[in-house]
Amino acid sequence: MMRSAVFGATGGIGAAVVEALAARHPDGVIYAGARGKIPNLPQGARPFVFDLLDESSIKAAAEEIGRDGPLDLIFIATGILLNGTEIAPEKSWAKLDAGMMAQVFALNTIGPALIAKHFLPLLPREGRCVFAALSARVGSIADNRLGGWHSYRASKAALNMIVRNLAIEMKPRNSEAIAVTLHPGTVDSALSKPFQRGVPAEKLFTTAFSAHALLGVIDELQPDDSGKLFAWDGAEIPF
Ligand SMILES: NC(=O)c1ccc[n+]([C@@H]2O[C@H](COP(=O)([O-])OP(=O)(O)OC[C@H]3O[C@@H](n4cnc5c(N)ncnc54)[C@H](OP(=O)(O)O)[C@@H]3O)[C@@H](O)[C@H]2O)c1
Repeated sequence: MMRSAVFGATGGIGAAVVEALAARHPDGVIYAGARGKIPNLPQGARPFVFDLLDESSIKAAAEEIGRDGPLDLIFIATGILLNGTEIAPEKSWAKLDAGMMAQVFALNTIGPALIAKHFLPLLPREGRCVFAALSARVGSIADNRLGGWHSYRASKAALNMIVRNLAIEMKPRNSEAIAVTLHPGTVDSALSKPFQRGVPAEKLFTTAFSAHALLGVIDELQPDDSGKLFAWDGAEIPF
């Protein structure tokens, strides 16, 4: 029986991952986490509350879920690119702002790291299990040819580094445990809405397509893949 915890179940991709897990594992248990109420939860999914900016809420969620037993999959689908008010991707170094950078790092890097701190102990000590966090291709330093989006790119590059570290630290505890970051493609969600102009229709994925593709990638991961960044189609993206 598959037991999963999805963080960001109100998000475009997070909600679709919850749906896709429910469809793929009708007998499984899905813990669906968000900071507010989650609309349209599939039947049987168990909601929990957490806020990336409040470590005590993450700790409390881990204690509650941990009482039921170990998890097979931890999927982090949270993240921020812009919020319509104080956070917006910088087109130039002239737009760098310490407060905005700190917020983006708090949400995209530190939050997932704190989830790892409290939830990795819920993975079993033997057998296959996966920790996956949504990163982005633009977080690859090797892939950066356009520049801009300083805070978002850097926060995802830092997330990739954190997850590589987690992978190394997890290995002696369970040689079959896997930790990866994933690029979901360009997906039609609130996060990408302002940037969809110019994206060819066939390259703008539905949330359902991306969620199924990402779960397919997770299914195929091997222990040697741990610590790496993979795209929705299974291709490794060099850091
Ligand atoms: N969409 C794309 O094209 C694309 C491309 C590359 C990478 N990604 C990555 O994929 C991930 C998901 O993106 P998406 O498109 O699904 O975005 P989205 O629809 O905007 O979802 C973002 C999620 O993050 C949650 N969140 C934000 N702040 C939070 C906080 N303080 N505590 C708890 N949850 C919080 C949101 O919760 P609320 O509903 O409460 O705000 C929401 O569930 C992100 O990491 C993004 O960088 C997306």
